[in-house]
Amino acid sequence: MIRPVELIQRKRDGRELEAGELAELVLAYARDEVPDYQMAAFCMAVYFRGLTSRETFALTDAMIRSGETIELGRILGRKVVDKHSTGGVGDKTSIAVGPIVAACGVPFGKMSGRGLGHTGGTLDKLESIPGFRVELGRDEFVAQVRDVGLAIIGQTADLVPADKRLYALRDVTATVDNVSLIAASIMSKKIAAGADAVVLDVKVGDGAFMKSLADARALADAMLELGRRAGSEVVCFLTDMDQPLGSAVGNALEVREALATLRGEGPPDFTELVLAAATRLLALSDLGLDDAEARARAEGAVADGSAVAAYERWIRAQGGDPDEAALPSAPVVREVHADRTGYVESLGAIAIGAGALHLGAGRSAKDDPIDHAVGIRCLRKRGDPVGEGEPLAEVHARDEAAAEQAAQEVRAAYAIADEPPPAKHIVLDVVTAAY
Ligand code: URA
Repeated sequence: MIRPVELIQRKRDGRELEAGELAELVLAYARDEVPDYQMAAFCMAVYFRGLTSRETFALTDAMIRSGETIELGRILGRKVVDKHSTGGVGDKTSIAVGPIVAACGVPFGKMSGRGLGHTGGTLDKLESIPGFRVELGRDEFVAQVRDVGLAIIGQTADLVPADKRLYALRDVTATVDNVSLIAASIMSKKIAAGADAVVLDVKVGDGAFMKSLADARALADAMLELGRRAGSEVVCFLTDMDQPLGSAVGNALEVREALATLRGEGPPDFTELVLAAATRLLALSDLGLDDAEARARAEGAVADGSAVAAYERWIRAQGGDPDEAALPSAPVVREVHADRTGYVESLGAIAIGAGALHLGAGRSAKDDPIDHAVGIRCLRKRGDPVGEGEPLAEVHARDEAAAEQAAQEVRAAYAIADEPPPAKHIVLDVVTAAY
């Protein structure tokens, strides 16, 4: 029997733990036999001391073993693909990528997460759709990927329950941004859900958990190594998170933007990332496409309406109403105006993410409810010209006081300069093997 306090102390002092000890700790936590306060202390010790690659593997393996696993590809007799992001502001990519890939005839099965810190989570976004169910059982998940071609679910009591508990705990104990904890959290979900090929979107910059390219590469390497050990094909995109992705930040606003993108009416940076990720997933699939063919198929699914049709089938299959008009709207919408003429030099992703969180789009404590209607739309992005008095952004709030507070935060997030900053591509690099 392990004594959690001893493991916390050893990790606090920078020592390596045995794989068996780590596994026991995680499995006991998943069974509710270790209290939150000890696990929080353990996560903080890991935050400061890190985990070795042996410990990271043991943690991931224990998290997978805390529940069932699904051999999705084997059950379906098809190569199943999946994508996951390390967390960003305005990141609704999966909600658009899934339907495009499914519309092209490739099964997409994904286990997602909720908002973490200042970043939003796909499950919270999907729950802004009235009726949508994120908790499907194992059999329902398999049947939906087989029959509809697409399912996005949350961790459950049966599927990676250890991540379900740890994820919520890390969110409110400032222990998210650690390479090993993120890598284990993401890869346990990917491996347990059984996809054969995965695109991982590793966010870099102000609004990401990894602030520098070097840290993002270290996270990519850790996940590539876990993927290699599990026998799944993993490709990591390193993508810009110095500013929010697309325009919308906030749950229902982001679902609307994902839907607009499926109609071919999305913001340029978001559209480019969605098409790049969908292209790579189609190229990894069993359709035998090269990159150019895969890109043409992805663009074709948007142009001919089949991506929107796949979205509607998917949302209905999970109990939701796919009609955009069914999404909640905030009662107060206020514009934030530029106080000078110039170009947007920067637009702080973390400040916009925090503004949306303060409006109620995210959680500050573990069981906080989420207001799905509120958020921010960034009407001007980095490099855009703006005239004095013209709108920079829109705040969607529950009441006037919240709108006023958020408007001040949004105004402070924008820097306007005389000249535009150098252009930056959304995809900074693509990494397929650990260094
Ligand atoms: N996404 C996850 O699933 N887990 C993390 O720890 C961070 C992002």
